Amino acid sequence: MREVEHPGGSHPATLILGIGELTTNAPDAVGVDPVDDPTGVIRDAALLLDGGRVAWAGPESACADGVEAALGRAPDRVVGVEGRAVIPGFVDSHSHLVFAGDRSAEFEARMAGRPYAAGGIRTTVAATRAASDDALRAVLRRHVDQALAQGTTTLETKSGYGLSVADEERAVRLAREVTDEVTFLGAHVVPPEHFGDPDGYVDLVVGDMLAACAPHARWVDVFCETGAFTPEQSRRVLEAGAAAGLGVRVHANQLGPGEGVRLAVDLGAAAVDHCTYLSDDDVAALASSWAASPASSGEAHGTVATLLPGVEFSTRQPYPDARRLLDAGAVVALASDCNPGSSYTSSMPLMVALAVRETGMTVAEAVWAATAGGARALRRDDVGHLAPGARADVVVLDAPSRTHLAYRPGVPLVHALWKDGRAPRP
Ligand code: NIG
Ligand code: FE
Repeated sequence: MREVEHPGGSHPATLILGIGELTTNAPDAVGVDPVDDPTGVIRDAALLLDGGRVAWAGPESACADGVEAALGRAPDRVVGVEGRAVIPGFVDSHSHLVFAGDRSAEFEARMAGRPYAAGGIRTTVAATRAASDDALRAVLRRHVDQALAQGTTTLETKSGYGLSVADEERAVRLAREVTDEVTFLGAHVVPPEHFGDPDGYVDLVVGDMLAACAPHARWVDVFCETGAFTPEQSRRVLEAGAAAGLGVRVHANQLGPGEGVRLAVDLGAAAVDHCTYLSDDDVAALASSWAASPASSGEAHGTVATLLPGVEFSTRQPYPDARRLLDAGAVVALASDCNPGSSYTSSMPLMVALAVRETGMTVAEAVWAATAGGARALRRDDVGHLAPGARADVVVLDAPSRTHLAYRPGVPLVHALWKDGRAPRP
């Protein structure tokens, strides 16, 4: 990467030149390729970052005027990327990173034929409860750093391996040290000390546990599935979370069909995640949740179907059918679900590759789902796109097109990145 450096402040105005293919996710941006595609691609593009935000994006041929209008002076830095592709930083809207312990033996057994079971979560609960704050912090930091190195600039993460008031409060508090997108998942499974009394555990979740956790969290979540929580119990948890000021998201329809998706839509959840087993009614409910505010309007009022194909990869379940959702008009996101049980990867490039290879998405749809889709799932309009005003979260791929994310699975393709207009990696 060629770089000409000038003195700049903590957010130096940076002009990126020589972008072969710029994915803006802003179909109305200046110079966008006139194809019917929400990813708003500009070829031979330039991008100006200033003050932690995108200041201008457009064809390089128009960049002198664009920079003059947006900045009124020379940029502090000019970076040439020699024809590489540039995309918005990935928005990973679903992970579980506050944990301790290792479940590789469980994975090995699954690969030898044993099915995935939600009960494995309790193994991680025991290890997490026994870990020190600093041990949990170290795991969190390691995974956040690994995710960033693979292009994830916005990341949600959850509690759910504490399952007592003190352990859940600790989990959301530690999570908040690394991200604002923190989810309270006290209703992950019923912990051993409440076996035989799941409703009593739900009383605790909606009572003291929620009161302790809500100050650190933005979202409430529940695992609505056979072996975890019933639709009635899930509704109690989500309604209590909403009453405490939290946004709603749901784990549902992962292990089999169920009422979780329709519950999520009914409660106006921002997202329902997994969506592996869907009925026609589920698909119709997800699609019609956007009817009042189409995906293209920029409004964010529907329920996103977040697919987590790392789970199917790691559990040998059938992959979800993204094509069916997209063709029905649903809004689809991709996320890693990084956790030690069902999907121990934080790689959003891998999610794009799996979605294209296994779920029926085009490359454009998968890249949109892993960036703008994740932003929709978190009800964020400042990330997931590169229009002027967006956060300057930018990934330069070591490839001439974003297609390489799916075409070259497993290859480290992040050449450079900026988060909030700063380059954490040279
Ligand atoms: O999203 N589905 C529920 N929770 C996690 C799995 C957690 C685990 O197995 O430890 C998930 O897949
Ligand atoms: Fe999950």
